[in-house]
Parts: sequence; C-alpha cells; structure tokens
Amino acid sequence: MTSIAPKRASESATEMVQVVLPNDANPLGYILGGTVMHLIDIAGAIASHRHTRTLLVTAAVDGLQFLHPIKVGDLIILKARVTCVFKTSLEVQVDVFSEETLTGRRQLTSRAYLTFVATDREGRRVPVPPLLVETEEERRICQEAHARREERLKRKADAGQPVVGSQ
Ligand SMILES: CC(C)(COP(=O)(O)OP(=O)(O)OC[C@H]1O[C@@H](n2cnc3c(N)ncnc32)[C@H](O)[C@@H]1OP(=O)(O)O)[C@@H](O)C(=O)NCCC(=O)NCCS
Repeated sequence: MTSIAPKRASESATEMVQVVLPNDANPLGYILGGTVMHLIDIAGAIASHRHTRTLLVTAAVDGLQFLHPIKVGDLIILKARVTCVFKTSLEVQVDVFSEETLTGRRQLTSRAYLTFVATDREGRRVPVPPLLVETEEERRICQEAHARREERLKRKADAGQPVVGSQ
C-alpha cells in the first residue's frame, strides 16, 4: 500500500477577505447569517482541499454563534485551518472576523468547526494525508478535535433515532 505524505496545517491555512455589500445585508445593515455560513463552508472547504487534494463533502458543522454584527462597508475575514485529521475525514476551524475599513478595528464574530469527508468521483471514501503535528499547541488542538469528534458522532447517532411520539 502506498502511504500518503503528511502535511503541515500551515500548508493548507486559508484566509479569505471580502467587503460586505448592501446586497449581503438585512434591513439593519448587518451581513446575513446565511451568507456568513456560506463563506465559512467555502473557507473550510478550500483549506481541506489544499490538505487532501481530493473531492470532499461537508459532513457536519458544529453549533455556530454570531457574537457581533458585521456591517455593510466592513470587511469580513475568514481564517481556516486544519485542526486534526482522522482516516477519511478531517476537522477544520474557521474563525470569522469583522474589520472596520476606516479604523482597522477587528473583532472575532464567529468560530466554526467543520468536518469534511474525502471521496473519489464515485463517492467512495478515500484516506486523507496525515497532519504533521509538531508543536505542543498543535497537539493540544488535535486532542480537542478528537473530543469534539466523539461528541459529534454521538449527536449523529442520536439524530438517527426515531423521535418518541412521532407518527
Ligand atoms: C457525510 C457522509 C459522506 C458520511 O457518510 P457515512 O456513510 O455516514 O460515513 P462513513 O461511515 O463512511 O464515515 C466516513 C467518515 O466520515 C465521518 N463522519 C461521518 N459522518 C460524520 C458526521 N456527521 N460528523 C463527523 N464525522 C462524520 C466518519 O467518522 C468517518 O471518519 P473516518 O473515516 O475519518 O474515521 C454522508 O452522510 C453524506 O454524503 N452526507 C451528505 C453530505 C452533503 O451532501 N454535504 C453537503 C454538500 S457537500
């Protein structure tokens, strides 16, 4: 069996920057939550593609909070980074920031954890390259990702259970 060369998280780390335009906003002039979710998915997918160089599907997005609004005219910045790699799946962290164009003031507005599964063109799962974990910080991040994965697979199993009282 051929082994796949491991990669560092820094090799796939991705930053996306976009200005918030009126078309992206609600009547208060804040970016739509759905638009932020779309950009999170894209940023996470790009980092994952750069790591795996395979086709991917989004398997899960963990609970998402919107801590501060991002206003029309602000920049939205998304930083995506692979935190941990499993067998055919991997976890990516996406941090979202707002930046005021006139002052440069930055705020963290959301943090999302996404799981992607690598597939071939027929939809069969394929192994992903290992992640080179070189620092204590990277080791801690990967350990935390393992714990989140356990929780998420438990939630998935629960979601598959029939709802009591449903017809
Ligand atoms: C995600 C999907 C491929 C998982 O299929 P499955 O048959 O349940 O998964 P498998 O048992 O083959 O597991 C494959 C890997 O995915 C992981 N996985 C599956 N569902 C998961 C979930 N909800 N959260 C986290 N990881 C998950 C498994 O743990 C396994 O990881 P590993 O190989 O690294 O150990 C399948 O449910 C699917 O195709 N969903 C739709 C995806 C989609 O349309 N996304 C939006 C557009 S891209």
